Amino acid sequence: MDIRTDRSNEKRRPSAADASLAQFVADVQYYLTQTPRQLPSRYFYDELGSALFEAICRLPWYRITRSEHALLAAHGDAILRHLDPLSAIVELGSGSGEKLKTILEAGGRRAGGLDVHLVDLSASALELSSRVLAPLDGVRASAHRLSYEEGLREATRAISGSGRTLVLFLGSNIGNFDPPAADAFMRGLRGTLAGGDLLLVGADLVKPERELLLAYDDPLGVTAAFNRNLLVRINRELAADFAVERFAHRAVWNAAESRVEMHLVARSAQQVHVGAAQLDLRFDEGEAIWTESSYKYEPEQIARMIEATGFRTTSQWLDPADRFALTLAEAV
Ligand SMILES: C[S@@+](CC[C@H](N)C(=O)[O-])C[C@H]1O[C@@H](n2cnc3c(N)ncnc32)[C@H](O)[C@@H]1O
Repeated sequence: MDIRTDRSNEKRRPSAADASLAQFVADVQYYLTQTPRQLPSRYFYDELGSALFEAICRLPWYRITRSEHALLAAHGDAILRHLDPLSAIVELGSGSGEKLKTILEAGGRRAGGLDVHLVDLSASALELSSRVLAPLDGVRASAHRLSYEEGLREATRAISGSGRTLVLFLGSNIGNFDPPAADAFMRGLRGTLAGGDLLLVGADLVKPERELLLAYDDPLGVTAAFNRNLLVRINRELAADFAVERFAHRAVWNAAESRVEMHLVARSAQQVHVGAAQLDLRFDEGEAIWTESSYKYEPEQIARMIEATGFRTTSQWLDPADRFALTLAEAV
């Protein structure tokens, strides 16, 4: 007789997926009931959101990706040379992994026999970056589907060897934090690293308003789709009934705060139910949900921000045409 144990009544241990869904519910409950209403930008990146972000990177008006790639191709060798002996690279919010590939290719054979740790909340980004790095000789990639902080802790625990660790924080991901959050994040990062480890930060610089707005409100509507997909995701994952077509994408340059803000604006008064969060929300016409901030910097501001948290800037490379900065700093 084939006897199988029925475990359906046993208490199941909560999985990582349960925990991240519970966090999503808690964040939606909290942020959508703030004044002004908000949603954290980390939730943009479901499978479609990550694909839309990759499309944004190819738009002529979004110059961050091309500019950073060019800087990494030109200076990747110098960056890796600076790190000798290098034990591992950890990339926080690795996205497609193409930028890490550019650095490793620029470093040539020096990068052979290297552990790289990819940290990202997006499963599809991790799949893509693992695929992108797979053809590189001697590169062993590990994926961590975790937040920046948790992923860095898990990666550093896994790193063996007496060399230095390089942490990459590219694509102006730092710009999604407001100044106090950026300071807290950098301090946490420094606390996880050892003296002599290195941090490479890519950050977008202040530029004329027209250029900034075209980057975040492009004529093809790809960024608008990226923004509105957040509501599609909440509808699907949290049993909500946002009428997506009744929310307009808006990008504004807030010069006083030096940030581009993205919002979703109700085109008409409406009622929204979010089942998993037991929320009933009433939107007035014109009421907005603030979905992202992208802070823009001056080069010396980036160095100051990094140095205030236990790092020493060793090099900074600038793209004066597209106004982008790569800053390499050493943990002291
Ligand atoms: C703007 S994209 C940049 C990707 C890549 N660094 C680049 O420069 O093209 C941000 C990436 O970070 C991930 N991400 C956003 N917030 C995160 C968080 N709090 N923890 C871990 N990953 C996060 C997203 O899933 C996405 O892949």
